[in-house]
Amino acid sequence: MTENILREQIAEFGKSLFNRGLAHGSAGNISVKLPDGTWLLTPTNSCLGRLDPAKISRLDNSGSLLSGDPPSKEAFLHLAMYGERASSRAVVHLHSLHSVAVSCLADLNPSDVFPPLTAYAIMQVGKLALVPYFPPGDQALAGAVRRLAGKHHAVLLANHGPVVAGSSLSAAVNAIEELEQTAHLMLLLRGQPTSLLTAGQVAELNRRFPS
Ligand code: 13P
Repeated sequence: MTENILREQIAEFGKSLFNRGLAHGSAGNISVKLPDGTWLLTPTNSCLGRLDPAKISRLDNSGSLLSGDPPSKEAFLHLAMYGERASSRAVVHLHSLHSVAVSCLADLNPSDVFPPLTAYAIMQVGKLALVPYFPPGDQALAGAVRRLAGKHHAVLLANHGPVVAGSSLSAAVNAIEELEQTAHLMLLLRGQPTSLLTAGQVAELNRRFPS
């Protein structure tokens, strides 16, 4: 896919996420790897619903700006994901409502935040790891993500929001939408007697649909 098509895709997915309330204000950022090893990232303080494809930042593999507007302050977080996951071609970070609500709950399991509620959560999100709180754009946040990214393509930043890597932009967007849906379900079911998938059912899903 050419750079221009990928720029258009970032703007289209950004608008779609914004129009459905999954992104608001200037929260969230999207990146895509280019075949030459450079990568595209949404500019800092931009609204995902109103991106200009021509102004999207292009960076080298150390995070230096090559062209476009100044990049997202979370550039290091995206680089941390790419550094640990060689097959990842796209990373999406959102402040989507239900995922952020879950990220603020006490007593989460940091290595597997969601109970096993549905097959698609297991297949597309897998074990969601919780990253301790650091301020947005903090280098320590990128370091904490780097330590988890080898084992988890989806992580939840405490009191902040989800970050998901995928083999394509559509795969990363599908997975982060599934993550948001699962966070919503978890909140709806809190305090309700709930039938969870068994360990055997989860193992069977992981066997049939390896990530
Ligand atoms: P940027 O505007 O720098 O991309 O930051 C938005 C955000 O989501 C911070 O976590």
